[in-house]
Amino acid sequence: MTVNCKRIGNTFAAEVHGLDLARGIDAGLAAEIDHALATHGVLVFRGQRLDDDSQQAFIQQFGPPVVTNFKEIATGHPHFYDVGTVDNEGNPIPEDSVKGQYLLANQLWHTDGSQNQPPIRLTALHARELPPVPPPTEYADMRAAWNDLPESRRKELDGLIIEHSIYWSRSKIGMTMDDFSEETKAARKPVQHPLVRTHALNGLKALYLASHASHVIGWPLEKGRALVDELTAHATQRKYVYAHQWQPSDLVMWDDTWTMHRSTPYKEKHPRKMRWCGVRELEAV
Ligand code: OGA
Ligand code: MN
Repeated sequence: MTVNCKRIGNTFAAEVHGLDLARGIDAGLAAEIDHALATHGVLVFRGQRLDDDSQQAFIQQFGPPVVTNFKEIATGHPHFYDVGTVDNEGNPIPEDSVKGQYLLANQLWHTDGSQNQPPIRLTALHARELPPVPPPTEYADMRAAWNDLPESRRKELDGLIIEHSIYWSRSKIGMTMDDFSEETKAARKPVQHPLVRTHALNGLKALYLASHASHVIGWPLEKGRALVDELTAHATQRKYVYAHQWQPSDLVMWDDTWTMHRSTPYKEKHPRKMRWCGVRELEAV
């Protein structure tokens, strides 16, 4: 079977037709989806009636699922986060709560898990309940952004190492080191990743940036931060962006190794309930 993909974005992103994921996928189909992700970056599967068990069965075909141990957005299931906008009583999440801060930070361009080593490789987000006018999720094509840089610039950038840190990304929404416990600070140390990554399946290069990306190892701090800002602005120009308009029961899956994404603001009372799961890289990158 070949996965039937139809391009929906400008430079990347595709809709996948003809699959009912709740029926389960075998290893061969998972490998095809993996290759489709290497080609298209973002895959949209419409109308997938998944529950926790079938979403779990799906994600684990791609590798060991991420263990979701961040308690404020935990679901009770070991491999899911609840990226919802309401608490269990249906009230909007206050912006100054821990979960509110998490949701706010999701509005910064990021790749999932780049603040960790190994980072997350793939993410699958399922729309369980949507408001009448759901906020879109935006995705950026970091491969096209890389390819469009002049060759001389690519030579300068290839090989640079970037420090990624949760403290840096959270500082952008007003948090300080005092907002983190000593336990968190001990457990969540900054990590390093290459600025330019080569895809394991097709050898194609792409920028690897995120809200967590702070500065260049071995460069003066401010110079490195200016480079990260400049490249992030370059890579998130509208021509590289696919804005996903959610429909009920969409499953959107993306390749975190060469795309960035962000949520867009949503302040209405009607619940938006999304189930997040992912798989990590098996080795440090
Ligand atoms: C995520 C994420 C964006 C959204 O689930 O990793 O960033 O629109 N979500 O909910
Ligand atoms: Mn995310």
